[in-house]
This record gives sequence, structure tokens and C-alpha cells, in this order.
Amino acid sequence: MAAQTMEQLVSLCKRRGFIFPGSAVYGGLQGTYDYGPLGVELKNNLKLAWWRANVWEREDMEGIDAAILMNKLTWRYSGHEETFVDPMVDCKSCKMRWRADQLSGKCPHCASTELTEPRPFNLMFKTQIGPVPDPESFSYLRPETAQGIFVNFKHVLDSTSRKLPFGIAQIGKAFRNEITPRNFIFRVREFEQMEIEFFVRPGEDEGWHKKWVEDRINWWLSVGLSRQNLEPYHQKPDELAHYAKATVDLLYRFPHGLEELEGIANRTDYDLGSHSKDQGSLGLKARVSPNAHSTDKLTYFDPETKQHVVPFVIEPSAGVDRGVLAVLSEAYAEEQVKPAPADRLKPVEEALGTFLKSVGRNEKLPAQAKEALLAEGERIAQALGERMPSIAGLLSMPGAESIEVAKKLRGQVDPVVDEFYRTVLHFKPHLAPIKVAVLPLKKNHPEIVSTAKSIRRKLQSTGAMRIVYDDTGAIGKLYRRQDEIGTPFCITVDFDTLGDGTDAALKNTVTVRHRDSMAQERVAISELETYLREKMQSGA
Ligand code: GAP
Repeated sequence: MAAQTMEQLVSLCKRRGFIFPGSAVYGGLQGTYDYGPLGVELKNNLKLAWWRANVWEREDMEGIDAAILMNKLTWRYSGHEETFVDPMVDCKSCKMRWRADQLSGKCPHCASTELTEPRPFNLMFKTQIGPVPDPESFSYLRPETAQGIFVNFKHVLDSTSRKLPFGIAQIGKAFRNEITPRNFIFRVREFEQMEIEFFVRPGEDEGWHKKWVEDRINWWLSVGLSRQNLEPYHQKPDELAHYAKATVDLLYRFPHGLEELEGIANRTDYDLGSHSKDQGSLGLKARVSPNAHSTDKLTYFDPETKQHVVPFVIEPSAGVDRGVLAVLSEAYAEEQVKPAPADRLKPVEEALGTFLKSVGRNEKLPAQAKEALLAEGERIAQALGERMPSIAGLLSMPGAESIEVAKKLRGQVDPVVDEFYRTVLHFKPHLAPIKVAVLPLKKNHPEIVSTAKSIRRKLQSTGAMRIVYDDTGAIGKLYRRQDEIGTPFCITVDFDTLGDGTDAALKNTVTVRHRDSMAQERVAISELETYLREKMQSGA
């Protein structure tokens, strides 16, 4: 099971510290999000998995980390100054601004059909460089990491003596002044990309393009996405970016629909050719603007043919934030631990009905918030027995807190959810923000607590994974909390561990509880490190 709605994810992410709206204390900044304590771990794990698979484990790849600020000429010759635009329209009635290609003839805010003609809007953020207010001293925040790779092509080639084919990989921030950022972290103004520019001999590009599409699908499967939620889409000629000969988008079934997760483009010799001097001598296949500023030819000397060539480029370009969203969505599940009896469901059903009626009658709620609350509430009501945990998300949606009966609904639902349900993130272990939680059966028993803390310290000192100690609730509650943040293993220290239980043979052993199956087994403390390492490696 994956997430059904974005509300489920937004609510969990905020509640448990994965992702927060940016600058919230000042009313927010649209199109920005901050990663919290668990979000930063998840994002780092995803980036590390990508780096490991694409840089460490391959023999044909180097990594770099280029500056975000680049000479503004980069963006002239890359084509971004001229062509990195979206068509925008203004609503003449409420003055809101929209992307023309995402409208169906009326303003989504006020429903007016009085819209301006579409005009091009450049998505790059312009920024002043240096202390002197000179109109020429500006650049842009990079809208893609790719250009930092192209301008370093010669540096990497010369410093590593690489032969074709080889690639350069980079992970870093990119910025786009999106006209309508939306769908949580799917479309934002500040995000991260994981990009590869893979340089090949002209003529070998189409074969490599196919290989990279397969390779990238397999990698997304390795981080837990299921094949039926991933769809390759071959862009039509009129959809191609100005630099591309062919592009395959990997679409993912996000909660808001099937949309792009990664693009794999055949950029030909466009970029290296664009940033080169003396272009006439290079025999370029792509059409590039004449470059009067470059100081170098970005070519490769082919030792076999003894000729300089401009390599073609295959570019797998993935969004880190979209990756995080896809992984979260795929991992998300609401599960019934044991059936809730009818007499416990009934009061929740009634409270939900009252809440939805109250939302429907409320005249102060903005139309969009009301519509969203009713849609999510009705989705839950249709299968309340299964969807009960989604009520937490419903109650954290915009406008919900202003409904008076919301408190009553929360009071009814929380104890039922606690007793009969769990929300789980079924992350692959290598992505889980926390790999192991060590829990004391009793937090006021000094020996149990000190044993649990020393197990945590010892496991943490191996450096291989993040381990936490948690004593903030009763054991059942602690298991639920760790399930909800995707911790694959909980270790519980109890009286048996101390040799004070009923079975003396259990001395110096602990209970290991598995997130997905909820199965528990007894493991000797001395075996824990090996046991956990093996389980992590096997992905269990
Ligand atoms: N260098 C090629 C390039 O930048 P792109 O299709 O514009 O191509 C690549 O972007 C990836 O970056 C997308 O597939 C998406 O995952 C991510 N991305 C692009 N714009 C984004 C945005 N506004 N918010 C979040 N991710 C974005």
C-alpha cells in the first residue's frame, strides 16, 4: 500500500519532523520547505545511495561539487537566458499569476475567465554580485546543476586522464522561480538535483541512452519504488528542451498523479559545443549560438583516431526532493493491528459526520480549503474501518483547526487509533532515518536503563547506522512511534536481560522487534552487531 493522498504525507512529515513549511513563523515563503531531524537523515540516505551506486560502484564516473553562483555568461551560452521560460497569465480580477499551460481557461483562485494573454517568464533568480550596485554585476542562482559539470569538463578530464565513455556526477541545490509552486515538495523554488553528465563518442549516444534509462529504473526499484508506480515516457519532438535530441522521463505515481521524477536526456554535443571557442572548427552536430567569450575548446582527444571530438552527452537528471516524496509515498501504510469492534467505531463515525457537516456549513472557510477538507473527509468516511489513521491528517489540513467540533473528533479517534491501528513507513533499511531504537521496558529501573543506554552507545560506536534510545512512553506506544518513522528494528531491554526474569537462560539477551512483520525474537547482546549488519544487508 502507498499513500493515497498528499494530506497523509504532509501531516506525518510535519507531525514527526520530516519536513516543515519554510519560514513558518513569518507566515511562510511559498515554494520552500525545511527538512527536519528525520527528513535530513532520509534525504542524506537517498543521496548517499545514489552517490554510492553511481560514483563509488561504477568504474566510469567521477564526482564534483561546483559553485552555485557561476559567471552569467554560462547562462547566456547554455541557452537559459533566452529559453528557460514558462508562459504565464495574470487574472485581471484577483491579480493572481498562473502558469498558462496549467489552466483550463479560468482562474483557480476566483474562477474569473478574464485572463491576460500568455507572456514568457524567465524562471531564473537574478542576484547582485559584489558590493557595487553596477547593473552589469549580476548573475543567477543556478536553475540546474548540469552547467557546473559542463564548464568543468576539461578540468576533470585533465586531472583524471579519463577515456570515453565516462561520466561526471553531482548533487546540489538548484533554484527556479516557479510561477505556481505546488504539491508539497514536488514543485518548489529551491530544491536539489542528482545529475550525471555521461560523455560518449558521437554515434554511441543512442545505445547509452537506452542503457541509462534501464539503469535508472533499476536504481529507483532498489530504493523501494515499485515497478507498477514507475512509467517511462518518451517525450514527443515538440516537448523536447532546446538542447535535447531525445528525452525519456521516468514518471512516478505520486499521490497527486503520474508526474516526472527524473528526466534522461540525450543532450548531443550541444553543451560542450555551446561553451567552446572556435566552434566552426569542431564539426558540431547541434545548432549553437556563436560564442565570443569562451577561452577553451571543450573537446576530447581520441587516442584511437588521433582526433579531437566533442563528446555527446547522456544526462540522467533526478530531483532529490521528488525522490524523497516518492520514497515516502511508496513506504506509507495505514494498517489495522487488530479489528476494532463496532461499538468503538460508531462514536468516531458520528463525530466525523458532525465534523464534515460543520465544514460544509462554515461560511468563513476559503473555498479551496473547504473543498479539500470535504474531499478528504469523505474519502475516509467511505472506508472508515480501514482509513481511521488518516483522520490525523484531516485534522491538520488548512482550516480544520477553526472547526469547533474538531477537538471532539480528535478526542474520539486518538484512543481508537492507538489501540487498533498503526501507521508505518516501510522504508528499505538503508534509507530509514533511524535504523535501530533501543527501548527500556521500564524507564524508572536504573539497571534496565543503563543496560539499554550502553547497548545504544556500543552499537552507535560502530559508526554504521543511526541508533537512538527512547523512553518517552510505554513499550507499545514506543513501537508505534518507531513504526511511524520507519525504524526497521527495535531492541527492548527487560528483566530477562538482567537475569531477573522467569527464564535464566535469557540473561544478556534482548528482544529484537521487526517493523514490517512485528515479529519478535531473542538475540544475545554479544551477537547484536553482526545480527543487525546481516539483516540490513539482506534488506530485511
Ligand atoms: N539538467 C536537466 C534538468 O534540469 P529538468 O527536467 O528541468 O532537467 C530535472 O529537471 C529534475 O529536477 C526533474 O525531473 C525533477 O525531479 C527536478 N525538478 C525540476 N524542477 C523542480 C522543482 N521546481 N521542484 C522540485 N524538483 C524539480
